[in-house]
Amino acid sequence: MPAGDDVAGAYDRWAASYDADVNPTRDLDALVLRSSGLELGGADVLELGCGTGKNTAWLARAARRVVALDFSRGMLERARSRLPPGRVHFVRHDVRQPWPVRSSSMDAVIGNLVLEHVAELGPIFTEAARVLRPGGRLFLCEFHPFRQWGGRQARFTDPATGEMIHVRAYVHSVSDYVNGGLAAGLRLLHLGETHEAGAAPDALPRLLSLLFQRP
Ligand SMILES: C[S@@+](CC[C@H](N)C(=O)[O-])C[C@H]1O[C@@H](n2cnc3c(N)ncnc32)[C@H](O)[C@@H]1O
Repeated sequence: MPAGDDVAGAYDRWAASYDADVNPTRDLDALVLRSSGLELGGADVLELGCGTGKNTAWLARAARRVVALDFSRGMLERARSRLPPGRVHFVRHDVRQPWPVRSSSMDAVIGNLVLEHVAELGPIFTEAARVLRPGGRLFLCEFHPFRQWGGRQARFTDPATGEMIHVRAYVHSVSDYVNGGLAAGLRLLHLGETHEAGAAPDALPRLLSLLFQRP
């Protein structure tokens, strides 16, 4: 199996350099989340694939409680060291399995740059609809499928070996995301397609973002 097919193992290897690598997708994602208009004051938030905690720290500033899931030990270790203990409960968990939180217990579910590594979106939307309170929101931001179809995907140079690792990724179309949320009974509030600053007028969007609400 190529190293990248073991997604958790690949991110364990990427963890040491993930924050320092040049990565316009990671940086644009941070901007998109922060300008999403999500109101998180006093909210209970579940984060999927928190990685090194780039967004977790921002979520924790406003939220009452953040539960942050990731299945890479290496990424979680970095996230834990970035945040003071207390407001965030980190859990090593595979988001393809039922989520370790009670039904109707969350005001927001946030997933950034994680679902490209998940083959089946259906269980993700079903779990989001289960754990959200009525009125709760699901925010997703992903590498745009147009770029994936153009051959781009998450990859990094392993600092330990110099090897280029392509992390196993799946293409989900815009309609896969939209219809997946609708099929789980969620309402689509907003769909965004974002270019990085200075992109050529005919450039493909870098990120796809979606905001759903549980009725
Ligand atoms: C590109 S990083 C994004 C991290 C963070 N959300 C961010 O925006 O910087 C993808 C993260 O998703 C995690 N991940 C991928 N598939 C996962 C799964 N099935 N369960 C839990 N975590 C997963 C990886 O371990 C990695 O930390």
